[in-house]
Amino acid sequence: MPLVLILNGPNLNLLGQRQPEIYGRETLADVDRDCAALGQSLGLDTSLRQSNHEGQIVDWIHEARDRAQAIVINPGALTHTSVAILDALNAFEGPVIEVHISNVHKRESFRHHSYVSLRADGIIVGCGTQGYQLALRRIAALLGYSAA
Ligand code: DQA
Repeated sequence: MPLVLILNGPNLNLLGQRQPEIYGRETLADVDRDCAALGQSLGLDTSLRQSNHEGQIVDWIHEARDRAQAIVINPGALTHTSVAILDALNAFEGPVIEVHISNVHKRESFRHHSYVSLRADGIIVGCGTQGYQLALRRIAALLGYSAA
């Protein structure tokens, strides 16, 4: 089955604990479990990863060039700062969907700009942790593995 990397940036390890009024109560382990289950039903393998370090995320995107067919990425605050992640994604050929749990456009103006959006094939914003599942459905459709 095609592999989808689901990459998460800084502070998302605290999902479910930090600012639950913004990010909800689900943990990243819950997201991982739900994505794996949905992936199976869509015919996709998933590998969810999280790092607080920009270089680690760049390395995972490089790894995806040989190993993965698509990327779902929530870069956290690196969304708004990282040209390095944009450059790495530009070197990846498959579909890329950008996810933000919160509606960044309702928040501070520094969250309104995303470097990653310059590369993303689709963007899911403000749908809570359900956004990851919506992203997987879109990936399945783009890869032609499902009528999703
Ligand atoms: C976030 C939004 C970012 O602005 C923030 O820095 C995050 C999470 C989101 O999922 O809503 O860490 O990417």
